[in-house]
Formats: sequence, C-alpha cells, structure tokens
Amino acid sequence: EARARHAAEPQVMPEPGYPATRLRRNRRTDWSRRLVREHTLTPADLIWPLFVTAGTDRAEPVASMPGVERFSVDRAVRAAAEAAELGIPVIAVFPYTDPGLRSADGAEALNPDNLVCQAVRAIKREVPEIGVLCDVALDPYTSHGHDGLMDGYEILNDETVEVLVRQAMVQAEAGCDIIAPSDMMDGRIGAIRAALEAAGLTHVQIMAYSAKYASGFYGPFRDAVGSSGALKGDKRTYQMDPANTDEAIREAEFDIAEGADMIMVKPGLPYLDILYRLKQTFGMPTFAYQVSGEYAMVRGACDNGWLDPDRVILESLTAFKRAGADGILTYFALDAARRLKAGA
Ligand code: PBG
Repeated sequence: EARARHAAEPQVMPEPGYPATRLRRNRRTDWSRRLVREHTLTPADLIWPLFVTAGTDRAEPVASMPGVERFSVDRAVRAAAEAAELGIPVIAVFPYTDPGLRSADGAEALNPDNLVCQAVRAIKREVPEIGVLCDVALDPYTSHGHDGLMDGYEILNDETVEVLVRQAMVQAEAGCDIIAPSDMMDGRIGAIRAALEAAGLTHVQIMAYSAKYASGFYGPFRDAVGSSGALKGDKRTYQMDPANTDEAIREAEFDIAEGADMIMVKPGLPYLDILYRLKQTFGMPTFAYQVSGEYAMVRGACDNGWLDPDRVILESLTAFKRAGADGILTYFALDAARRLKAGA
C-alpha cells in the first residue's frame, strides 16, 4: 500500500535505456524549476514583529538580535509604512516597558495609554492599510517576567485570564485588528472572544498561540522587551513541553472551539512537524513564528560569514510554506520582502 502511493517510483524499463525516469530533467533549467515549483513565498505571507520604546525619533539596537531595533512610536509608524509599501499585510507590536512601570500585577498592560496602545493608534491613523497584531500576555509588564499573576511560585490561571481579557479589550479599543494571546492559560481564547462579542467588537480577529512551547529560543526576545533579567524560574507550568506532539493537537482543538480565527505554532523551524500536523488536522489558517533565537542563529552565522544570507533567509521561510504555513511571523520580514521584490 505504501508502494502504491508512490506513483512516481522509477519503473525499470527493459529497453532502450536506463533509467526511464530521470527526476533531474525537470530541474535542468530555471524555467522548468519555476514551472514545477510547489510552494511560493510572497510578502503577503509575512508578519513583521516590531519592538516599540518610549521617546521620539529613537531606534535602539537589541544586542542579541543584530539588525533589530526598538523604535519610538513615530519611527514605528515609518517602519509600518515601509512594510505596507513592500506588501507585508500585518505588523506585530511588542513593547519595551520602562522598568519603573513594571509591577507584580502587570497593571500597565491595562493602561489605555500604554506604549502598545499609543503605537496601535498612531499606526492605524497613519497607515490604515496595514493590519496590526497585539500580543496578549503580561510578561512585558510584570516585575517577575511571567505571563500571568503569581501566588508564591504558582501562576494563577483563572485570575490571569480575567486580566488578559481586560488587556485584550484595551488593545482592541485602541484599534488592534488581531488579538494574539501568547500566555498559554487555559480558557483564555473563549473568555476573550466572549468579551469582544459583548462589546460589539465582533470583527476583531484572534490568532491563538495554540502550540507554544517552553523554549530556550525566546532568549533574545526577552532581552528586547527587557524581561530576561527579571524572569524568575521558567515558564514550563504553562508553556508546552518540547517533547510533546499530541498535546499540541488538544491545545489547538480547544482554541478553535473557543473561537480562534487562526492558530499558531511557536518556535518555528525546530517545530515544523507540529505545524504540518496542525494544518493537516484542522485545515485552519495556520501560522508559524520564526522566533528571536532562530533569527539570532541565522543572523549571527550570516554576520560571521558562516552562512550566506542570500541563500538561507528565503530558504528558511519557504520551508514554513512547504510544511503548511499560511504565514510566518519573522524578524526577517522586511529584509525578505525586499529580496522578494528584487526577484531574489
Ligand atoms: C510573550 C511572548 C514571548 C514571545 C512572544 N510573545 C516570550 C515568552 O513567551 O517568553 C517570544 C518571541 C520570540 O522569541 O521571538 N509571552
């Protein structure tokens, strides 16, 4: 039966030549390779995560993510315009919160005038044609660096969900188009969906970080939002065990039932099996996040001359498409869109 599925298996013909099937024929010329190509990456597949910081006309480098900068809101608006110009459909806004505004309960997340809300309002006003995605989780705002409220060493689920609902509403009211809960609390998608409906914000989409693993690859991101120094312990009681697959199916199943419009897998390249399985199982709009550590690996190797950026950046993104992604969150978005535009 496994054999029957491989219809293209070479048949050894007795005459005249061997082999009758030469797979290299279709690869011989550029036009032929383009003709038989199965997957195509376009700028419309890209979501660009952007870090925002306080101030005006500021761009601060992120040490562990060479080439990535935190932008003040005015600069973020310019960056959004550039992304829109290149055909990137969505940007994701992450805040670097002043340490003085961080607290045990992450209350700054609920401030309708916090950095994220300021950025969302400014971008939607100046660049209305681009979609804006906001992460829902408390870690950029908590003094302990965790995504939820704590009681001792315990991350409280239901109490956290109540706060996340309020955070999501504040962002939606600022004009956020896609709410993306990244906290991995149980029941948060349903609670946020219900609140959006009740408030008449029925058009606001939810992209659920459904299969989010407790990964070491988030390290540079935590530097970028300033939570790495603060984080006590790890996130294994809420983010998933990297050893699990079936659990990802269950997580996605709940998120879809609770009202997610789109699902996401994170990290990206080391988890393409999860992406493939979720897309095959649910047929939902399914996204992958090429996270900060993956960016740092590729960028760092390229900057050292060990990898060729002209080869590996688009190759890595195309791999997501092949595995079934409808789109990719990537810090390479602008770079990749420029390469695609140049016809790389
Ligand atoms: C917040 C959040 C994280 C990332 C996205 N949203 C960090 C974390 O969960 O610790 C990571 C993104 C990246 O590494 O690029 N909960």
